[in-house]
Amino acid sequence: MTDQPQRQYRLDYRPPAYLVDTVALDFDIQENNTQVTAQLAVARNVAGPAGPWRLDGRGMRLVRVAIDGADLAHDAYELTDTALWLDNLPSVFELTIVTELDPETNLSLEGLYRSGAILCTQCEATGFSRITYFPDRPDVMARFTTRIEADAARYPVLLSNGNCTQAGMAQPGRHYAIYEDPFAKPCYLFALVAGDLGVIRDTYTTASGREVALAVFTEHGNEPQCHHALDALKKAMAWDEATYDLEYDLDQFFIVAVGSFNMGAMENKGLNIFNTACVFAHPETATDGDFARVRDVVAHEYFHNYTGNRVTCRDWFQLSLKEGLTVYREHQFAIDHGSPGVTRIEQVRMIRDIQFPEDGGPRAHPVRPDSYIEMNNFYTITVYEKGAELIRMIAQMAGREAFTDAVKHYLHKHDGQAVTIEDFVVAMEETTGLDLAQFRHWYSHAGTPRVAISQQHENNTLTLTLSQSTPATPGQPNKPVFDIPISLAVFDTAGSQQVPPQLVRLNHARKKIVYKDVPEPAVVSALRGLSAPVKLTQDTTERDLVCLMAHDSDPVSRWDAAQSLYMTHLLACVDAIRADHALPGLGDGLSQAITRLLADWPADRALLAEMLTLPSTIQIGEAFERIDVAAIDGARRAVRQQIGSRFEEELTALATAHAPRSTYVFDQDAAGRRAVFALALGYLAETGVEGIEAWCRTVYDEADNMTDRMAALGALQYCPGATRDRLLGDFARRFANEPLVMDKWLRLQVSAPDIDAVAQARALLQDPAFDFTNPNRLRALLGGLVRGNAPAFHRADGAGYALLVDEILRIDAFNPQMAAALAGLIAPWQRYDARYGQGMRAGLSRLDGAELSDNTREIVASGLA
Ligand code: PHE
Ligand code: ZN
Repeated sequence: MTDQPQRQYRLDYRPPAYLVDTVALDFDIQENNTQVTAQLAVARNVAGPAGPWRLDGRGMRLVRVAIDGADLAHDAYELTDTALWLDNLPSVFELTIVTELDPETNLSLEGLYRSGAILCTQCEATGFSRITYFPDRPDVMARFTTRIEADAARYPVLLSNGNCTQAGMAQPGRHYAIYEDPFAKPCYLFALVAGDLGVIRDTYTTASGREVALAVFTEHGNEPQCHHALDALKKAMAWDEATYDLEYDLDQFFIVAVGSFNMGAMENKGLNIFNTACVFAHPETATDGDFARVRDVVAHEYFHNYTGNRVTCRDWFQLSLKEGLTVYREHQFAIDHGSPGVTRIEQVRMIRDIQFPEDGGPRAHPVRPDSYIEMNNFYTITVYEKGAELIRMIAQMAGREAFTDAVKHYLHKHDGQAVTIEDFVVAMEETTGLDLAQFRHWYSHAGTPRVAISQQHENNTLTLTLSQSTPATPGQPNKPVFDIPISLAVFDTAGSQQVPPQLVRLNHARKKIVYKDVPEPAVVSALRGLSAPVKLTQDTTERDLVCLMAHDSDPVSRWDAAQSLYMTHLLACVDAIRADHALPGLGDGLSQAITRLLADWPADRALLAEMLTLPSTIQIGEAFERIDVAAIDGARRAVRQQIGSRFEEELTALATAHAPRSTYVFDQDAAGRRAVFALALGYLAETGVEGIEAWCRTVYDEADNMTDRMAALGALQYCPGATRDRLLGDFARRFANEPLVMDKWLRLQVSAPDIDAVAQARALLQDPAFDFTNPNRLRALLGGLVRGNAPAFHRADGAGYALLVDEILRIDAFNPQMAAALAGLIAPWQRYDARYGQGMRAGLSRLDGAELSDNTREIVASGLA
């Protein structure tokens, strides 16, 4: 029987018909298949609906169904390709189900699958139903016991959730292990790993003195790349104790790194499974950015142990309950372990560069969506990062201490439960005393609110007029008035504070704020640190921005003032290119601001690098009704060259002063110095200053770390010729056995502005050595082309779109999650100038005419709606 894809609605929620108290799983791993025996202690749920019981299941063979030990005949149940239906059940019973799986041919990377020498599982959101028939929904929480048996030589390591309670030899050549997880959990948190793995181990003693065994497992030979992750894990454990009084609750916490993984990592109880890209960090193969990402993802998954695992989601519409809160906790952790200003700047950039475009495109959806066809399409930047921003707003309004208490209250009140975002908001209100009635609109409505601020100044009275409006999004034509916390401060032109930072709530369509006794002129700093995820327009003058850039007390605001100054000039350049006019020059304000910055380097060098970085092309595109890829890219490059030539001497001095000198350490100061060096080198290379190739070659040849090597290669992207070819060749030979490093090489191969990047990408994809079943490879190559080289991808003859569509069709046949993510790249065709939009749309139509997975079809349909 074939099931049609069904749209699920949040408001259709019904409690489960049956609850599962315990699950005993037995995995019999054989050469070519795995047999799974599941024994479930089931009881009818009085709150649930009557009638037949649906168990989810797909992509496996059902061998046996028994109730209280008695086998069911084939006509006693109904089997479709996504479910097993049982009827006429007792109110309490034991259900036995035997299934057979084929992990060797499972390329979807959901359920049980192989990654190199490792058999592993991925169950979120609904991968468990590829392992056995089960009510695959997070509000069914059960205690799991897992027995794994496998060949002892091929799979010496056997792991599952919880604590290992028994292990030993089985039949000749085979062995087994039994794990018990004492905490009831939804099946999406189940995990199993079997393989021949290397390991590094450590211990952590919790605040109350319990010793926890820690380990990071990986394929042999990669152990030296895992120490940073293990170190990050200990930092995260200590941080959660110090910040939220949260102590780890099992005897062991294991991380397993696998090469084939659709996402970053997964928080399975006590047994996190990670993409190697989020574990491996060694100076010779990973950049500073990689080191920071590994640290933060390790912390994120660890934090899920409470926000997600101990308190989980009632249904998948509530995903942001765990993800938004955990991302927020990860952000707090990152800010405590790096430069607070720069860390926040990176978060703000992510919101503006990725979340705002999503919220303004065909896939816009609320942080708590109302419906979906394929849940895997809703692990989005909106659910994650905008969700975290909503929590950050609550934290700002409540104050740090009250917010921390409220999180503790929430976790205590709902420990062991599957709850909703509404439950979270109520818990926030109960402790903080905030009234969040109007604030709740943030959860139910998509779209980025626009806030406008204008100022009048008379007789030492400063009046600010704030207003808001939010554009329609698909399916939501009318938007409410949001409760928007706006952080404000007022300075004089010398930078002294006239009004100290304060949070005002714009909770009407318009609001006036009056400050008395403020002498003229006044400079208003607003939406400081992006206090709300909105787009701001403000009648600040160039002089105000130059002043804020130099004097604002908050580094994020200084950076933001610089961004506004750059943006004004960039927009003028885009207009000039479109009108075929000569480009405007840098302008006095901007020149003056950069002069000042380059004459007096901020002590935080990473901040200096951020302040010298222009808004991204995506961000420039956000300012336009329709995106003109070539004009935007042309403008950004032209402005970089203007800055490079105008400040060649200063940038050379900056680069010289920060050129690599000492051996690599990953810390804030050293990483900041490397960042500013790479930035200066990039400007000089793009400007084509004399001797730059030789300089890059020296940096590359003498580098003891990947960050400096990438700085040299990144700069050389602008310098076609023998040096670049030679270094790229050397890089490929040197790192041929490091797939994650070769991902960096793939990105470089398709991102140089002077090459035929589409032809290059096609050639690489057809290379027999290219593993197109691995998501990291695909992300590097196709992501590198589409995002890293927009002008080449959006070429006029449509070859870029054709290549992407060919690959989506090929990938969709085995990994729908990956294919759907790629289809999302051309879905927002209406945001583009017709020159590009028509080609993107044609690509979507071609997909629409093909046989597609539900995942990809949902994305294509949103683009064509
Ligand atoms: N829950 C994972 C996280 O920490 C993400 C994930 C989702 C991983 C689905 C795999 C599959 O964000
Ligand atoms: Zn998460």
